[in-house]
Amino acid sequence: MCGIIGYVGSPTSDNTLEILTDGLSRLEYRGYDSTGVAISNSSLDVYKRRGELTELEDVLPDQSTNGSAGIGHTRWSTHGPPTDENAHPHTDCNETVAVVHNGIIENYQQLRETLEADGHEFDSETDTEIIPHLIEAALERDGDIERAFRYAITMLEGSYAVAAVFSGRDEVYAARNQSPLVVGIGDDGYFLASDIPAFLDYTEDVVYLENGQFAAIRSDSIQISDERGAPVETPVETVDWSTEDTGKSGHERYMLKEIYEQPRALRKCLQGRLRESDGSVSIEAVEDMEKPKQIHVVACGTSYHASLYAARLFRDRGVPSTAFMASEYDVDTIPIDTETLVVGVTQSGETADTLEALREANRVGAETLSVTNVTGSSASRETDRVVYIRAGPEIGVAATKTFAAQLVALAMISITLTNDSAATFVEALRTLPELVQSVLDRSRAKEIATEYADSDAYFFIGRGYNAPAALEGALKTKEITYKHAEGFSAGELKHGPLALVTDKTPVFAVIPRDGNFEKMVGNVKEVEAREAPVIAVTDAAEAVEPLADHVLRIPQTDRRLAPILANVQLQLVSYWIANELGRSIDKPRNLAKSVTVK
Ligand code: F6R
Repeated sequence: MCGIIGYVGSPTSDNTLEILTDGLSRLEYRGYDSTGVAISNSSLDVYKRRGELTELEDVLPDQSTNGSAGIGHTRWSTHGPPTDENAHPHTDCNETVAVVHNGIIENYQQLRETLEADGHEFDSETDTEIIPHLIEAALERDGDIERAFRYAITMLEGSYAVAAVFSGRDEVYAARNQSPLVVGIGDDGYFLASDIPAFLDYTEDVVYLENGQFAAIRSDSIQISDERGAPVETPVETVDWSTEDTGKSGHERYMLKEIYEQPRALRKCLQGRLRESDGSVSIEAVEDMEKPKQIHVVACGTSYHASLYAARLFRDRGVPSTAFMASEYDVDTIPIDTETLVVGVTQSGETADTLEALREANRVGAETLSVTNVTGSSASRETDRVVYIRAGPEIGVAATKTFAAQLVALAMISITLTNDSAATFVEALRTLPELVQSVLDRSRAKEIATEYADSDAYFFIGRGYNAPAALEGALKTKEITYKHAEGFSAGELKHGPLALVTDKTPVFAVIPRDGNFEKMVGNVKEVEAREAPVIAVTDAAEAVEPLADHVLRIPQTDRRLAPILANVQLQLVSYWIANELGRSIDKPRNLAKSVTVK
């Protein structure tokens, strides 16, 4: 999805362009199809290009010729195809203001018609372009820049994070509604971004803008105000992500680095939350909560698979629980009351469908909890409680370490909320990072993936706690290999999907020795009889070897944690198939890291 970077340095600074392009490169992971920057000096210099950031860099001037205030954007097309004209920033007729925008302006058509009737000429098909023209119209009437910006913003309906620079002014104006914006406080200037990694090289001190807030950023100050223009005090927070976290640390790709980072991510997630003295768990944010009457878990994509896992865990611990795809969550038709806990699972904390579901839950008075990776994200601010999964920044579009950390955080939440004894579970959680490390150290996924890289399709099966792992294995595979992959609850195979199984469709079976083992053996035999190659992901290699073509081993652990170990093997399988096929693994086609539109 689109990304924003802005910077205002001291009047003599000569690195604005470098900071903006560096920020854009840090935002690339969100997914984009065009880029652009605008720099204010005596005039307004705007450069924009469809395609990769390198296309933009080819047309940029000498780095030292720039001014001290500028904005940049990575666009993920919504209104109008990816063209040079549709790329942001957009300007008014006289090129006095340049604007970048994330989100969707719902009333743009009507505003555009009015502006066109007043003589404004548009160059693009975007909804965004109405903003500079609205500002221009207000400037013609009043002449005050800040009031003109504020006027334009108040005319908008929809979701937006907006940043603007004006010709000859060393300042950036910004506003947000339902789309994230954060200000970075550096030694030599101020930053603005939709996402912290964009400026993490320069500062870790941030101020999160809230919905309805405006910011005026100058080289030596920031002023934040509310909708009516009244100044607001905003706390400065320090993020605990480092630039090391956002590099590749010697790995060829972010996804592989993040798969290998899982032991560390899990240790951080567990840190201070496991009480070894009495074998208990304490998640501060939910410690004082009564056991809920029922729990709804809402999420999308990979996080939805984490939600399926969580709902099973909560049910296992005696709380009626259901997982919902956030886009299907409808409080008018689903029984919900003030004693319902609605848990939103969202790595980014910005997924539009998940936020919408949480807002609906808030509206009807349910208690809401977000489980997220991003401090200060919209989900974290809009829910009654928040639990951070502490996985560190995830740059690869495909979620890996955040999925593992979500499962662990949700496991700890389930223990804290139900307050029943869970000593063996807690002990298993404590040793989990080591077990993940041992899977990473010994995995044969690469050789198996290489052998099956030219298959027609891939199927993934599992039961109980491992059914979400099968779904997740398939999602990861389709996402980064662009091949057909499906995950099934293994019992469902014979109710239709078996028709697809052939000798060209490897089946990955998650089959640890748990209560479902014998049934899984039956399911493996079903696919074997159709000559499908079987790859068993198991902690019972000796028992499974005679049934399977290959075995991917996982160590024994609590049955509730086996899916985390199995998933590491499946992540590696999908990664190495995609690698063999030469795919764009960190930025798969058509996908975005943070899906901020419904
Ligand atoms: C898949 C993936 C997506 C996200 C989904 C929700 O690898 O990353 O399916 O899981 O878009 O994102 P969050 O967790 O940020 O709400």
